[in-house]
Order: sequence, then C-alpha cells, then structure tokens
Amino acid sequence: MNYQGKRWRTIWRNDDATIGVIDQRLLPHEFRTLTLRTMEECAEAIRNMTVRGAPLIGATAAYGMCLAIRDDPGDKSIHAALGTLASTRPTAVNLLWALNQMLSAALPLPPEKRLERAWQKAAELCDEDVAVCEAIGRHGLAVFREIVAKKPTSLQPTGAKLNVLTHCNAGWLACVDWGTALAPIFMAHDAGLPVHVWVDETRPRNQGASLTAWELNQHGVPHTVIVDNAGGHLMQRGLVDLVIVGADRVTARGDVANKIGTYLKALAARDNGVPFYVALPGSTIDWTLRDGLTEIPIEERSAVEVTHLRGKTADGALVEIQLTPDGTSACNYGFDVTPARLVTAFITEKGVCAAGEAGLKKLFGR
Ligand code: MRU
Repeated sequence: MNYQGKRWRTIWRNDDATIGVIDQRLLPHEFRTLTLRTMEECAEAIRNMTVRGAPLIGATAAYGMCLAIRDDPGDKSIHAALGTLASTRPTAVNLLWALNQMLSAALPLPPEKRLERAWQKAAELCDEDVAVCEAIGRHGLAVFREIVAKKPTSLQPTGAKLNVLTHCNAGWLACVDWGTALAPIFMAHDAGLPVHVWVDETRPRNQGASLTAWELNQHGVPHTVIVDNAGGHLMQRGLVDLVIVGADRVTARGDVANKIGTYLKALAARDNGVPFYVALPGSTIDWTLRDGLTEIPIEERSAVEVTHLRGKTADGALVEIQLTPDGTSACNYGFDVTPARLVTAFITEKGVCAAGEAGLKKLFGR
C-alpha cells in the first residue's frame, strides 16, 4: 500500500540479505522500520508483536527459516529453527503452513542448494499472499455491491450507504499487502462506494484503534473508532450493514478463531439480522481440525496488556500507564472461536462460500 508516496509491503528482503519489517508496536504514532538479521530476531519479532496478523506471522517465519539456513543448512539446524519459529505464537495456523511450505521446498535438496531455494520460496509465499488478498478484495467487493444495491436509501443516518463494522486489524499490516477483511473495504472505497467503517478499538492491544484506523486514515476511507462494547448497540439501531473480520485459524467444518471479542460481534450480528462475513486465505484453514472450540489452541498473553495501556502524551512521548489497582490480577485470552453457524459466508481468494465443510471443500477442492 502507499505510505507517504511510497509503495510498501509489510516485509521485504534487503540487499544485504537481512529482512525489513515495519515496527507495528509504534503505530499509529511513529512509522519506523526494523532490520531482522537472524532467525532468532525473526522469532522475537513475532513473539513481541513487532509483526502480527496471521499471514504476516507466516511470512516472517518463512524469512526466519531462510536466515537459519544461511547460518547452517543442515537438517539439525533446520529442525531446531522449525521448533523455535513454530512455538512463537500458537493460534494462527498460517505460521505452521508457511513453515511447512519452506521445509517442503528446502529439505529435499542437498544442503548447499537449500539457501537459494529458501529465499526463492519465501519471496514466492509473499507474492502469493499479495495476490490472494487482492482476490479476496475483489470477491468481497462483489458482496459489498450486492448489499448496497439492496439497502433502502432512507436508512442512511451516517450519510454513508454502506456501514461496515470490523474487529482487530485484518488489513495490509496483518498481511504482506492489501489485507483480508480490509481489502474489500479499500477496493469499495476506490470504486466509489460510499463506505464508512466502524472500527472496534480491540482491547487489550488496540489493533483496531491504532492499526486499522491508521490504515483507513492513510487510504482516506471514512471511519469511526468505537469501544468494543458499542457494536451491538449500533446494530440494534440499523447502523451496521455488515460485519467483516479476518481469521487466525478456520477448522475444516468452518469454526473461526479470531481476535478476542469476534464471537460477541457474531452473536450481536445474528440477533440483529446483520450479515457476518469472515475473509480468509486458504492458508488459514486447518484441515486437520474440526471442532474449533475444543481443538484450536488459544493464545494467553501477558496480563500487563490488560492492566496497562500504551499511548502518546500531549507532548508526544510514548508512554505506558497502569489502569488497574496495584495487585489486581488480569487474564488475557488473545482469541476466541466463532462457531460456523454464526458466520453468513466466507470470502476467500477462490470465491465466496457457505461457512461450513461443504462450502470450504467445494472451493478448495478437498
Ligand atoms: O494478535 P494479532 O494482532 O496477531 O491478531 C490478529 C487478528 O486476530 C487478525 O484479525 C487475524 O490475524 C486476521 S489478519 C488477516
């Protein structure tokens, strides 16, 4: 995407064979890039959420594997790197998918040929992700157009014809470019559809308020940040035409793990007859799992993300403040699972399908 007149991806290979990323911990207040020089630095960037979002986690792990192979192309080192990278974050399955792709490309080759193939494969995975997200955007745009066509013009209190609610950040920052849930929004805006986005702030890390709002702002898409609990209220008043979110793992039968709070939005959408879409690339489907509730590993993160907030002071300093009383404990589940029955449809690179096993199998030819 464009930022200050330059075309950016979220991850790239530098001329000196190091990896460049955007430090997402500093957005929206500072746009700073970071250089990752070793496999361990890639792993740490995923762990500490310098990079985040399911597809970007996968891409970073793929480049981490290249750096491990550069240092030692032997089987033992590759398997050690696999262990380190795979254990950085548990919920997004794109991480394991990307690592498996890297192993299938490199391991069959003799050690001296592995590095070149690994660099090539990591670049291919990134290019593929861009193409996939672009296709998701196109299919999503068709869905948006249908909803606009059906919408009575009298119901336009915000002055926009299409009010979209999204949770967390499933934009270009979460992928290599475009994004999943935000790709149709960017395309709708570019195509002249009067789209307005309700952006859930997405506590505790505020990926909505900081990252989604930043992306929409950069692209000139009208948007309004809301507290996480406001979505149901807006839906009851006819102020949301559709909900669209990304996904970190979707099971073979269509259950969806996504950022904590997604399930509550799906419940409110169902109660109010608002369509609830999940935008996902094929790499987010875990064909080995069926029951999302019992089988998807849910990340638990530091309580400090709940008890504290990061932000900018009036004089421009980035600071962290404590919200809770000293000694109060907190728990921090990163994701929840929305059962397939609450999802109106999946929007994928291969088209739109019913949220369930039959729909996914039909599209992905399983
Ligand atoms: O914890 P994060 O910021 O990695 O969580 C990101 C999300 O939950 C996104 O909605 C999901 O990865 C889909 S991104 C295309």
